[in-house]
Amino acid sequence: MASTATRPIVPPADLESFQAHLNRSTRILALLGAGLSASSGLPTFRGAGGLWRTHDAVQLATPSAFSRDPGLVWQFYSYRRHMALQAKPNPAHYALAELAKRKEGFMTLSQNVDGLSPRAGHPASTLKLLHGSLFDVKCSDFFCSYSETANYTDPIVPALQIPTDESDPTTTSALQARELDISDSNVLLPELAIRDLPRCPNCKKGLLRPGVVWFGEMLPTAVLNDIDRWITESNTIDLIIVIGTSARVYPAAGYVDLARSKGARVAVVNVDRDDEPASGMYQGDWFFEGDAAQIVPEILKSVIGEITEMPDAAEER
Ligand code: APR
Repeated sequence: MASTATRPIVPPADLESFQAHLNRSTRILALLGAGLSASSGLPTFRGAGGLWRTHDAVQLATPSAFSRDPGLVWQFYSYRRHMALQAKPNPAHYALAELAKRKEGFMTLSQNVDGLSPRAGHPASTLKLLHGSLFDVKCSDFFCSYSETANYTDPIVPALQIPTDESDPTTTSALQARELDISDSNVLLPELAIRDLPRCPNCKKGLLRPGVVWFGEMLPTAVLNDIDRWITESNTIDLIIVIGTSARVYPAAGYVDLARSKGARVAVVNVDRDDEPASGMYQGDWFFEGDAAQIVPEILKSVIGEITEMPDAAEER
């Protein structure tokens, strides 16, 4: 009997047909979601990781949640910034960055705000962040246009320091274990005064807010325009690779159908066989079931070779 270590992750027939198509493809899209970063230790939104201390993560990602309780929303985002900074890009982030360097007609649309693709060296010109970034901040006042990119200060203000268990010498791992334990709602969050939250240095009036796209908000116009330009440059798209996303949130999920309408074959990489794109799977598509961190480098190998070096741009900061 073959051991698990030698068993191929992807069935050879699928791999062969996918790689033949990948090799001859000149216009390729990738749509990325939270599952890409799951094996870097960051929880996804829907499913087991989608709760943060009894709060539904999706319910906290709205402008009304921020107006109602900016302290709670900032604590959630401060925690996410902290966890994202602790996490490291995984082999799938590096594999996609390498594909972007080797295939000219490759464009990546990411719903992730965790900064791991940029840290893996994914060229910015071919990486469109549909939902913004945890490390961008902007003024929440409608009349002020202040914004900052690449703000990695953690915590962003002292009041947003994540409480740690001082009595435990292994603070980091203890903190992570405790914060990631979704059943642990016993650790009381401090009530924060508005004056302790990050304030806009420009208008001095508005609170700063995370530069992510919340439910009910428009996606960034410049990003959408860049994508439209790429899509309309040609009548065809050869392939769309849909990685680690439940593909339920529009307009991001709509790019699968758009690519298909231009002839693209669809390849899905997901741990959950039921998480197909809303329009389903067609003949000639591929479903690679399993962890993106293992599967993505494997299926892209015919173009990118083996991923060996893994520099993390965050360590050079
Ligand atoms: N490898 C591959 N896929 C995985 C892995 C993994 N290791 N772990 C989980 N997945 C899959 C899940 O099966 C699921 O299909 O990743 C997907 C994660 O789905 P969501 O949690 O819905 O995340 P995403 O699709 O990125 O959500 C889209 O919704 O809440 C908003 O703005 C947020 O950008 C986010 C958007």
